Formats: sequence, structure tokens, C-alpha cells
Amino acid sequence: MDLISLIKTVGYAGVFLVIFIESGVFFGFFFPGDSLLFTAGFLASQGFMNIWVLIIGVVISAVAGVSVGYAFGFKIGPMIFKREDSLFFHKDNLVHTQHFYEQYGKKAIILARFMPGIRTFAPILAGVGKMNYSVFFLYNVIGGLLWGAGLSLSGYYLGNTIPNIDKYILPIILLIIFVSVLPTFIHIFKEKSAREKAMKLIKNMMPGKNKKILALNWKMNPESLTEALVIAKSSDHKNAIVIPPSIFISEVARILKRAKLGAQDVFYKEVEKGPYTGAVSAKELKNLDVKYVIVGHSEKRAMGETDELISQKIKTVLDNDMIPILCVGENLIQHKNGSTKKILEDQLKSDLVLIDDLKKQIIIAYEPIWAIGSGNPETPENAVETINYIKSSIKKEHPYLDIKVFYGGSVVSQNIADFLKRKEIDGVLIGGASLKPETIFK
Ligand code: PGA
Repeated sequence: MDLISLIKTVGYAGVFLVIFIESGVFFGFFFPGDSLLFTAGFLASQGFMNIWVLIIGVVISAVAGVSVGYAFGFKIGPMIFKREDSLFFHKDNLVHTQHFYEQYGKKAIILARFMPGIRTFAPILAGVGKMNYSVFFLYNVIGGLLWGAGLSLSGYYLGNTIPNIDKYILPIILLIIFVSVLPTFIHIFKEKSAREKAMKLIKNMMPGKNKKILALNWKMNPESLTEALVIAKSSDHKNAIVIPPSIFISEVARILKRAKLGAQDVFYKEVEKGPYTGAVSAKELKNLDVKYVIVGHSEKRAMGETDELISQKIKTVLDNDMIPILCVGENLIQHKNGSTKKILEDQLKSDLVLIDDLKKQIIIAYEPIWAIGSGNPETPENAVETINYIKSSIKKEHPYLDIKVFYGGSVVSQNIADFLKRKEIDGVLIGGASLKPETIFK
């Protein structure tokens, strides 16, 4: 491990190349970074290199490397999670980095510079998560300057101020390696719970055996608050989401102890209050403890709700830390002429177009329009096939979304178990039968 003679041999070009690769090219994660910069700075102080050429070159290589990492993640991100582990693509690396990234957000791009291993994967992950590029670039440049210039200058400074520093250079380099690796190790090993959390997060991205959920969409029912409270009481089960019309939400909220609360609609704009007659804002719902919001129900679409409005509502719901239940489905003509998948793909594409962030939770309710309220449900076999299709087409566009897919359309006490026993179906959206909860929660 003689960094000094190594740097002397490879020269500027070698140093710049290592920094470039290490900053964002996935196989660079085991390259030395901090010690290399420090030693190069030290060599500059001894007259072997020009400190300014070194700093400018290092910063440019570091910024360029990170940009390449981002572009790489952006392009091939969706494939990474499908790959089996290999020497370079160990999923664990991504898991650590993702957790780190979630904890520190934009600052992660800067902090990651100083953490070997994570350094290489952070920009790739930012690309996978499609982080806003101009924000990313700004933090990339700041990080590149702090790290590249900072470490080279420290080597340069120490080399100039401490006499006979070459005697201590080896222990100093070892210390730097130790100190720079330490935070990564602490992060990975000490925070066991964080690690488990991150693993769970990844697992959640795969279709799991999570508990099945019953979302109870009351629609424009019942007529009175008294009836509403009776229904709410007998719907109050742990795996239920009770979704009353907005007029009853605050009263129902007081009754529920185990069930979660949902809303049937939300105002599309990201405003908390204001001159919008008849609208209810996401913030107002959130303040009533609403956790889920139905968006794009076919009955609303029939009243004129467009995909554009739907996509904005989804974004507003997510931005307010609630979970959207996006309804999609084909009508009878489309069903008969075999265009179901095409219709669903179009709906999903345009409804989810504004989602761009890492790790968001969203529920899709597959509701064939012809099955809603008709007493004529889709068969569980066909529902499973379509749901698989929905899951795979979303994964392609949004690999990081935590999605659950429900079935909805004439689910009643007699057939609910047939749907819920399918591992692909994560829950059901129940309309008519939700008004008689005692029949469902037998
Ligand atoms: P349904 O309604 O259960 O009455 O068919 C389902 C829904 O519209 O969510």
C-alpha cells in the first residue's frame, strides 16, 4: 500500500480517473478516495504536483463521476432491483444507500461524498429515484468542492506546515482511512434497526404476504348521521379503511378506534384553504386524521374527472403524507373488445405521471366499471391476471413505489373470501356491501 509511489506513477490522469470512477461508476466503490486525495495534496506540497491543477481536476472529475452515476441510475434504475446479487450489484449496498438518502435527502449527496461505499451508490440512487436534476446538480457541485478541494488542501496544508511530515505520512493516511470508513460502518452495523427498516422497505416493494385490507367506500350514503355512526361502529376493525362521505368524516373519526379513516375525494390543488366553493383540501382531511383518499373512482370520472385532475390529486395526497387509492378499470365495451390492458396502461401512465420520488405508498383499486354495483363481479382468476399486469406495468415505470393492488366491483359477503385468499390481491374496495358491515365482518 504505497499510495505515494502509486500517485507518482499514475500522475494527474490516474488520480482524476480514480476519483471519477469512485464518484459514481458502480464498480468504483472499493477504490481509495479520501486517502488518495490527501496524499496527492501532500505530494503537491512537496513539489511533485501543482495544487491548483490537482484541485481543479479533482473537482471536475468528482462532479462528472457523480453526474454519470445519476444518469446511469436514471436509465437503468428499474432493472437494478430485478437483478440477482452480484459482486458489483449487491442489493445490500443499495439498501444502505437508500436508507441514508431517505434520512438526509438532498444533503445526502454532500454527506455521501465523505462516506466510502455510500459515496458511489448515492448518485446512482438519486438517479433511480429521479431526483430533480438541477437540485441534484447544485448539491453535487457543493459536495465535489468540499470533498475534492477540502481533502487535497488538507494534505497540502499539512505537508507545508509540519516539518518532516513524510515520516508520519503513513500513520496519517491510515488514520484517514480509518476515520473515513468509520461513519459508514457505524451507519451500517450499529443502526441495526435502521438496517432492518431498510430491508423491510425493500421487501415491501415486492408483492408480499401483507395483511389484507378492506376499504369500505360508503359513496353518497347513508342519509343521516345516526345511521352513519351505527355503520361506523360495526366497521371498526383493524384491517378496515372506513371511507364515509366528507360530511360525516369528523364524526366518524371520533368513533373509530381500530379502523383507519379514508375520504372519497380531495381538492386537486396543493392549497390548504381558500376561495374554492364546495372543495375539501388535503390539509383539511389530514387534520381530521384521514389516512387514505380515493382518487379517480369511475363514478367521479363519469362526472367529468379527467386523468389530468387525477394526477394532480394523487400528487396532492402524497405530498400531504396520505395514501391515495387510485381506481382504474375498463367499461363493458372495452372489456368485450379485449382492450382492458391497454385502457389500464393508459390510465396508470397518465394518472401517475406526477409521481417522481423515492418510496411512496399507493393503492391501486382495479375496478372493472361493468362490475361495480352490478352484482356481477369479475372472477378472482381474471382479477388476479389483470392485477399482475397492473403490478408489473407500474414496476416498470416506478420501481420504487410501494404498491398494493385491490379488487373492487360487487364484492359481497358471499365472494369476499374468494378474492382475499389470492396472494396477488392485497385487499378489496367494497361499495354497496360496506353499508352492511355485519355481513362482511362475520
Ligand atoms: P360495489 O362498489 O362494491 O358496490 O360494486 C365498489 C366501488 O365502487 O368501489
